[in-house]
Amino acid sequence: MEISTTRTEHPVDDARLAEILANPGFGTHFTDHMFTVEWTPGEGWHDARVTPYGPLTLDPATAVLHYAQEIFEGMKAYRHEDGSIWAFRPEENAARMVRSSHRLALPVLEVDDFVEAVAALVSVDQRWVPDQEGEKSLYVRPFMFASEAFLGVRPAQHVTFMVIASPAGSYFKGGVKPVSLWLSEDYTRAGRGGMGAAKTGGNYASSLLPQSEAIAQGCDQVVFLDGEEGRYVEELGGMNMYFVFKDGRIVTPALGTILEGITRGSIIELAGKMGHQVEERRISIDEWREGVANGDIVEIFACGTAAVITPVGELRWEGGSAPAPASTELTMAIRSALVDVQFGRAEDTFGWMRRIV
Ligand SMILES: Cc1ncc(COP(=O)(O)O)c(C=O)c1O
Repeated sequence: MEISTTRTEHPVDDARLAEILANPGFGTHFTDHMFTVEWTPGEGWHDARVTPYGPLTLDPATAVLHYAQEIFEGMKAYRHEDGSIWAFRPEENAARMVRSSHRLALPVLEVDDFVEAVAALVSVDQRWVPDQEGEKSLYVRPFMFASEAFLGVRPAQHVTFMVIASPAGSYFKGGVKPVSLWLSEDYTRAGRGGMGAAKTGGNYASSLLPQSEAIAQGCDQVVFLDGEEGRYVEELGGMNMYFVFKDGRIVTPALGTILEGITRGSIIELAGKMGHQVEERRISIDEWREGVANGDIVEIFACGTAAVITPVGELRWEGGSAPAPASTELTMAIRSALVDVQFGRAEDTFGWMRRIV
């Protein structure tokens, strides 16, 4: 892909940038540039460019605003001790975007082009990648949307792919602490043949109401059950789940209607190497409740790019609750192993890291 670069004449000044990077929060500050490439059936992907970050002008009839034909990705760039900048398994995000594009009838952006686009933006905005103290990183958000102006339900004939980036602070302020979960029995996230496995905005729109209920109930996050029977654990609004059994086995819900997390996949490999048998299978809400009560389940954790891994604490539902499991030992060991690879403090034996700068 040929990428042109137009640098901003008004980059954020060094003093302001230092202030932002000292306390970046999440998703509120954006780097000086953005990446854009457009697609039409006749020309394919064309006009790839890095330009100054700024607002888009959209026709009110732009299809994505009406029919939600949109997909996105979320990944991070990490600064290592020697100043170099690395991405974690970016080709996995690219491959997932290819799968999402298939479900949303959007054009395929090749894996190499996706990775090149991310690298182009991160390298132009490299001064925005924080140092690794406090697990800071640069969150990278590639997204693709129907940019044709038309009203009518059919795949758009003009599509735009963009990448923006935002410095991110530690997900946990004051150390890793377990998240409490609210079991949503009224709402599901995905159904058979639906879009659960695609990373598309609509799935997140549908999670907002149950997530608000979780907060109103005093919990941190919502956990969804399967849409057909309302019996099997699926995932959280933005994280996959793992259950650790006392005999060392670890279980994660099987794929199908959940998002195939890159952290989830990495843990399967990592835990396997640490000598644990990993099972991808259905796990019912009763197995969770009973396993915690009788001591068979000794740890539960959730995983995703933002938090990496977080212990799961109490589970609550209408009229009841299950306590936090006894331990967080393996959870924290897997977390450290993964974070150390991402920040270049441990050998990357799986070949997961890609150098950008
Ligand atoms: C619904 C959902 N499940 C799981 C995940 C975890 O995926 P990953 O590990 O690729 O960040 C995410 C986060 O992107 C998500 O939004």
